[in-house]
Amino acid sequence: MPTTAYNLLEISDLMAGYGRVTALCDVSLNVAEGEIVAILGANGAGKTTLLNAISGVVAPKSGSVAFLGSCIAGMKPWATNRLGLSHIPEGREIFPGMTVEANLKLIDVDGGGPKFTIDDVLALFPRLRERFAQLAGGLSGGEQQMLAIGRGLMACPKLVLFDEPSLGLSPMLTKAVLSAIRGLKDRGIASLLVEQNMRAALKIADRGYVLRVGRITAEGSAAELLESPDIQHAYLGL
Ligand SMILES: Nc1ncnc2c1ncn2[C@@H]1O[C@H](COP(=O)(O)OP(=O)(O)OP(=O)(O)O)[C@@H](O)[C@H]1O
Ligand SMILES: [Mg+2]
Repeated sequence: MPTTAYNLLEISDLMAGYGRVTALCDVSLNVAEGEIVAILGANGAGKTTLLNAISGVVAPKSGSVAFLGSCIAGMKPWATNRLGLSHIPEGREIFPGMTVEANLKLIDVDGGGPKFTIDDVLALFPRLRERFAQLAGGLSGGEQQMLAIGRGLMACPKLVLFDEPSLGLSPMLTKAVLSAIRGLKDRGIASLLVEQNMRAALKIADRGYVLRVGRITAEGSAAELLESPDIQHAYLGL
């Protein structure tokens, strides 16, 4: 297999927080091209802060964040988006007063990854085709999640940051969303996948890291993490 000189995403000794609150401390991790990497951790572990510090929603206090070999720490979200990073936030940012179609057409960014058209998004999430002319605010939680992911893909990312995509979804929709993420890998798109649903996440992930109170406490292949006797303990933060 060909090797690249750098990982798609390389984070070293990252510190981030809010005022005097330190939410991330000495976090180092990497994501290779086309890889799915899971970040597992209990409530308050720092998972959302990590994604925010990568995409630029939160400015890191110190440490380095490199994307495709270039430093992106401190860049604004619109700038990282243009480099090929799509962040699908926890709050499912969509425009509720606009139709599904308008929400998708509004994205005018080309991150340089595999091309995604509206038809590609509708093929990935057929449910959105039925809701195409409807206002996004009237969609179910699961449909809104699909739309949020669709919007992220319209920016043609090389890496997608998913913040708990299965949150609040039925087991069936969770399966659909996670298998869509798996499908992105087949198109060469990498994912950093924050999930509390550890088993579901590790089923599609190549590797994973456990975040506990702002620090990485374990890492390994998906199989290693699933088999580790300490992992549930560490993951639950007990
Ligand atoms: N805007 C903020 N201001 C101050 N502290 C914050 C803010 N956002 C998060 N924190 C704190 O930072 C820490 C990490 O929060 P973060 O939201 O990153 O955790 P998380 O792992 O995403 O949790 P969850 O699973 O509940 O989404 C927590 O202690 C939290 O209270
Ligand atoms: Mg969170």
